[in-house]
Amino acid sequence: MKKQVSYDSFINACRNCTNCDLAKTRTNVVIGRGANLNAPVMLVGEGPGEQEDLTGQAFVGRAGKLLDHLLTALMFNPEDYYICNIVKCRPPNNRAPSLEEAKACLPWLRCQVKYIKPKIIVCLGATALKYLVSQDARITQVRGNWVDRPGFFRIMPTYHPAALLRDPKKKEEMFLDMKKVREYLKTIS
Ligand code: URA
Ligand code: SF4
Repeated sequence: MKKQVSYDSFINACRNCTNCDLAKTRTNVVIGRGANLNAPVMLVGEGPGEQEDLTGQAFVGRAGKLLDHLLTALMFNPEDYYICNIVKCRPPNNRAPSLEEAKACLPWLRCQVKYIKPKIIVCLGATALKYLVSQDARITQVRGNWVDRPGFFRIMPTYHPAALLRDPKKKEEMFLDMKKVREYLKTIS
């Protein structure tokens, strides 16, 4: 109950945030989506797209539907995961967020990680990898390999689902990466 109250005040603070220029062009602040605020898996994308900006919900467009499909196929339960982004306001024309925008928004994501306390963080694509793992990491090289943060969580880098829409050959690789997440999840739950 206490957790719910403080999460609500976190949501209000995000909705009123003007810490970067993306505040000027957004329709809605997109905080995250999930049936369980104690979900063991947190998936982190880049930033809201058009549908997300309009609805205020994370990953509800084509990429999000594909992601939900993949998670369902791997028998994840809705209670297993929570989905959010590096930035909470839509970058105009779906460009990648700038360094300044990402740095302005990361404290909110850190706060979310503290509430949810995931055991696993999945980096969806290059932007999440850049800010959660390393500037120099390349998704094609590191995807599918665990990055451990002992005492906190393990990170699984994989493709962004939008990359699968552009190149369906990546579907199988992402499926294998998420299968590793599913298998590890079974060992800890
Ligand atoms: N792409 C993202 O990175 N995040 C969303 O919420 C939707 C599309
Ligand atoms: Fe605030 Fe993040 Fe939105 Fe920028 S993107 S205004 S830091 S919530």
